[in-house]
Amino acid sequence: MPILDGRALADKILNSVKRKVARIKKPLTLAVILVGKSPASVAYVRMKKKSAEKVGIKFQKIDFPETISEKKLLAEIDKLNRDKKITGFIVQLPLPKKINELKIISAIDPAKDVDGFHPLNFGKGFLNMPALLPATPAGMMRLLDEYKIDLVGKEVVVIGRSNIVGKPMAVLLINRGATVTVCNRRTKDLAGHTKKADIIIAAAGVPNLVKAGMVKKGVVVVDAGCAKVGDKLVGDVDFQQVKKKASFITPVPGGVGPMTVATLIENTLLASEKNF
Ligand code: GUN
Repeated sequence: MPILDGRALADKILNSVKRKVARIKKPLTLAVILVGKSPASVAYVRMKKKSAEKVGIKFQKIDFPETISEKKLLAEIDKLNRDKKITGFIVQLPLPKKINELKIISAIDPAKDVDGFHPLNFGKGFLNMPALLPATPAGMMRLLDEYKIDLVGKEVVVIGRSNIVGKPMAVLLINRGATVTVCNRRTKDLAGHTKKADIIIAAAGVPNLVKAGMVKKGVVVVDAGCAKVGDKLVGDVDFQQVKKKASFITPVPGGVGPMTVATLIENTLLASEKNF
């Protein structure tokens, strides 16, 4: 049951980014807009800050209360778009319900969209053009590549259809020649699909959804889920059960999470080098 060690690969990526950042004269700055104080978002932003600073990228956090208006948020985005000192920035999601997330994301300058969520970057990703790609799916692809997991012609089941993980991941896999089925938490016969999969990408946001009886022997499992159950962090895959059948599996924590952060930091370097 070899582990797909996201933490080790993330460290390797961050070290490489650090060496490249040291050679750039102009300081790089990553900004994050955080609306509200959701513990999960606060924790993610803290990890992004830590990794940015570790590689010599300046970090700027812009806090707003839950009550902020869409108009004010758009004004802040406009400011960051124009600010020459800002290399790239993200708006931490989710946003309060009354704010239209897609409207906010669409207002970000695509060249500074280090989350790769802007429709232009998303579309370029679909077309397999160079682009800033969403950090979680790009990080998962990188992890599969690091362990030389062949994708061509493989049956891959993606569980989850979110705009930031499931949907773009399905597209990146299609672009690499995989045979992709996109399921979600309501798929009628989820086990019928997962049992046929050579590779499972779990991104449904349902803790311990995938059990040992739902997978075939030798499956490769990448788990983007991360939820607090009691005082433990768990993924969408029942790790203790499924690890016995898997040929490779990501742990939670220490799998996809660190890869998301490392890819965001790498995207910030890319945004400083290229005009996407
Ligand atoms: N919320 C959960 N994951 C992400 C992410 O990758 N980027 C942003 N901006 N928000 C998130």
